[in-house]
Amino acid sequence: KRACSRIAPFLPPGLCDSTEMTDRETWATRIGFILASVGSAVGLGNIWRFPYQTAEFGGAAFLLVYLVAVLVIGVPAILGEFVIGRRADISAISAFDALDRPGWRIVGALGVFGGFWTLSYYSVVGGWVFRYIGASATGSYLESPGAYFISVSAGPEAVAFHGAFMLVTVGIVAFGIRGGIEKATKVMVPSIVLLLVGLAAYAFTLSGAEAGYQYFLSPDIDLLLSNYQTVVPAAVGQALFSLSLGFAVMITYASYIDDDENLFIDGGVIALTNTFIGITAGLVVFPLLAVQGGGYGEAGPGAIFVSIPTALSEVPFGTAVGFVFFLIVAVAALSSAISLLEVVVSYLVDSYGFERRRTSVLLGGIVFALGVPSATETAWLEWFDAIGVNLLLPLAVLLTVVFVGWVLADDAVEEVRRGADGFDALGPIWLWSIRSIVFLAVLGTVALSVFELTGAPL
Ligand code: PFF
Repeated sequence: KRACSRIAPFLPPGLCDSTEMTDRETWATRIGFILASVGSAVGLGNIWRFPYQTAEFGGAAFLLVYLVAVLVIGVPAILGEFVIGRRADISAISAFDALDRPGWRIVGALGVFGGFWTLSYYSVVGGWVFRYIGASATGSYLESPGAYFISVSAGPEAVAFHGAFMLVTVGIVAFGIRGGIEKATKVMVPSIVLLLVGLAAYAFTLSGAEAGYQYFLSPDIDLLLSNYQTVVPAAVGQALFSLSLGFAVMITYASYIDDDENLFIDGGVIALTNTFIGITAGLVVFPLLAVQGGGYGEAGPGAIFVSIPTALSEVPFGTAVGFVFFLIVAVAALSSAISLLEVVVSYLVDSYGFERRRTSVLLGGIVFALGVPSATETAWLEWFDAIGVNLLLPLAVLLTVVFVGWVLADDAVEEVRRGADGFDALGPIWLWSIRSIVFLAVLGTVALSVFELTGAPL
């Protein structure tokens, strides 16, 4: 608390009037924690990134590797973050002090920084989605989707929509864990599931949908075997991103739970629900892509903003479907964005006694400013994305895995077993998996990313 008061003269008034340090919140219910975590996991990664990654890396073959990666790498890694957060009972960075390993604060700091960085352009894409909800109402993207996307994806209006997206994000985080995040995600996640299942059923009725299913669901094993060097790291990276790992979200969210929860079940339910929603998104996106003539492979980041609108101009109830689709994407993006902002807000609130509402507004403003280049020039967005998701994220996961696997080690096993009666045998198996397959897979992902980013020949 003192830390904030000391620099108070240099801060906007009221920033240090916090009561949260003495009276830390918890989730009201276990399902609240699960839904908030699912809300974080389900985002642009599932609906925007997952389909185009799947398309880029060969369809169903990618899906298959992704599913394995979620199970054998994602689930153990998410448990690792839970263990840190719940044992420390305090947000990222300070968690490492609370665990008596202050030298490892750098891991938390890297995660917090990475999340801040990623939110800046995530919000720009969120702004595009806001824009597309409105454009669905008027049908303005139908005539020439490619030109429309180019005209709205960068420039002053993209900056304004990025601002609007950040404003809503701040509006939720400002109300705290129970009053903001838990309340919001309790409505958001079930809405996403219901609407998405509805759209998947609709997509099933489209003529030409089979080609999409075929591409998405029947793996070409030969393709996989000949391209595994690119497919496997991409699938591992997607699994980590999709489960919101690396940026200390799961550390922070788990710091608000009680000790008697079974983390194995929580982690499993979160991963399962996230995967279910990702696959359902694919069952909406791929039939639509098939309707507009396939070409999945070229879809790229513009996929849902160009190919989907192209399809919408050819299907029954096109604009209504577009409206619901982009609404789902917006809700999913928001429920992830709030988790990224919460990581930083909770750090300042917990460790320095900052007042939550004003801190949310201040940090939202900084993230907004950091995102302006991405909203002005798409090349910046791609650069931020490459650094954030391909480098900072796997690096942060790698350090977390080392911390849990070798530094916490037996304490970690004890923590993961707490509240998990009857799951005792899983503790050591989990630690073993963290030390072997998870460590190696994430190390490989980091190494490949470094090669790629530095342009070194492999
Ligand atoms: N899991 C989110 C998505 O799939 O869109 C993205 C994300 C959120 C990644 C929060 C990392 C994170 F810490």
